[in-house]
Amino acid sequence: MKTANLTAALAALFMVCACTEKHARWHIGISQCSEDIWRDWQNAEMKLESSLHHDVHLSFATARDDSRLQSQQIDSLVATGIDLLIVAPNQLQSVSPAIDRAFDSGLPVIVFERKTISQKYTAFVSADNYEMGRQMAMYIAACTGGKGRIMEVMGLKGSSPADERHRGFHDGINLYPDMHVAASLHGDWTEATARNTVDDYLTRHPADTFDIVFGHNDRTAIGARHAFTTHRSSSSTPAAPLPLFCGIDGLPGADGGIRQVRDSLLTASYIYPTRGDLLLQLAIDILEGRPYAKETLLTSALVTPENANVLYLESEEVVRRSQRLERLKLMADGYLRQLTAQRTVSVLACSVLALLAVALLLFYLYHRGQMNIRRERVLNNLWNLSTATEIPGVTSPTSAEGGNTVQTTDVPDASPSGPSATEAIPHHIPEDGNPNSASSRPPSTISPPQQEGRSELHTVEGAATPSAISSLFIQRFREVVERRMTDSELSVEDLAADMNLSRVQLYRKVKAISGSSPVELLRTARLNRGYQLLLTTDKTVAEVAYAVGFSAPAYFTKCFKEEFGTLPGDLRK
Ligand code: FRU
Repeated sequence: MKTANLTAALAALFMVCACTEKHARWHIGISQCSEDIWRDWQNAEMKLESSLHHDVHLSFATARDDSRLQSQQIDSLVATGIDLLIVAPNQLQSVSPAIDRAFDSGLPVIVFERKTISQKYTAFVSADNYEMGRQMAMYIAACTGGKGRIMEVMGLKGSSPADERHRGFHDGINLYPDMHVAASLHGDWTEATARNTVDDYLTRHPADTFDIVFGHNDRTAIGARHAFTTHRSSSSTPAAPLPLFCGIDGLPGADGGIRQVRDSLLTASYIYPTRGDLLLQLAIDILEGRPYAKETLLTSALVTPENANVLYLESEEVVRRSQRLERLKLMADGYLRQLTAQRTVSVLACSVLALLAVALLLFYLYHRGQMNIRRERVLNNLWNLSTATEIPGVTSPTSAEGGNTVQTTDVPDASPSGPSATEAIPHHIPEDGNPNSASSRPPSTISPPQQEGRSELHTVEGAATPSAISSLFIQRFREVVERRMTDSELSVEDLAADMNLSRVQLYRKVKAISGSSPVELLRTARLNRGYQLLLTTDKTVAEVAYAVGFSAPAYFTKCFKEEFGTLPGDLRK
């Protein structure tokens, strides 16, 4: 019972150990259309936010402005068994089928920042791209007094922010009759493409006819600026002033739009909020069944030379804080790993200790069981031998020496290797006195010996079986041993004489029946009697030793320990 409890406790310990390896509760897939500074900020925000939720695992995929690749990546993310998909579709049309497939498979889908043509999403998060374009037009008009020639460098064709920023910008500019968008060039959101496109345009058109360049994002505006700078320096006419450059994104950090406005590389930008933290929180709200807004419009603001310095200082502080948070997160991760390792070690140590405890308990139970068996055997009288085998050297009881007597055959003289009464005394008697006997067979048909001190053994009806003869013989031998064991001088010759046998005859018969020699049986009988006396009397160990025929108590103690595995003094404890 105790063993079962311990085993159950052990199993529980192992389960605790196994549980330390559990999987994250929520697996969120994030499909980014591009790889750039704006996405980097957003991904970092999502990661940081996820560290506040220990049971969230994020898988990022980036399509590097390739709609086909993004569709494949979405399918792959879904196939990995994510619980929710966050996706910024590269283009309006081409990524929609993959998003629809994800949504139709039952997955919650958050579309953010760029749109799809489908309505199959769980939530949508974005700033107002149309309004950004319009506000930028108004700001430019204010800067130029409502007059000017404008170059527009657009974002990727077919992506919703490019379309909306374009429409908003034109709607704003159209309010000013003296403002004119002279060129709308197609870029793809990258600085390199914008630079090349503008460069190409300026090789065919004069650079100094433009007052304003509006890039659909800051990188595009900076790319255009590089192209204008190149053309201005290579023009033969005295260097014309550069146009004003405006963009969108207004990112914090050393390479962000806020600093570019502060440093007069850009005239204005518009903060296009990344809000990775909000996206992740929304995802968890959806997963955990909390209420959430289906459409979230992010607020944003213009970055101008007037507010750029303050915004930059603030953004610096934000950067520092997020770096500190990142360091804290790393430290926390380290502690967590350490803690997990320590816990695993503790669990293992506990398991080993528990195993040891179980082993000790089993050993103790086994040992106690053995002791009980021995004790039982002694108390029930070890001499209760009901042998069943034929005794070599014992003839049919009907033969010689008058009727129902057992007659012994001749035995050879004592061999030199034969045991002596004084030899060291080993081992105990087998339980039934003979390894081949059927101890269950009761000796009930056997009458007790009729005369003490004689070797004749009688059956009830004059037809003694070999087993009955063995039993009676041992019984007779037992009586002699028990009567005389107190004599420390007792020898095998004495015992043999008492049974009217020679020493060799006695040895052979006893050995044949019990498997042990007479000396061994004598010693075992003495030790068993000693065991009984220790349990049932107040005699000292020395008194008991003498009482059972040992001439030296120390030798009794030694033999007792060998026989019962415990010291006589400890038996009473
Ligand atoms: C980032 C980005 C931003 C831009 C937005 C438009 O990938 O190119 O610079 O404002 O995407 O979707």
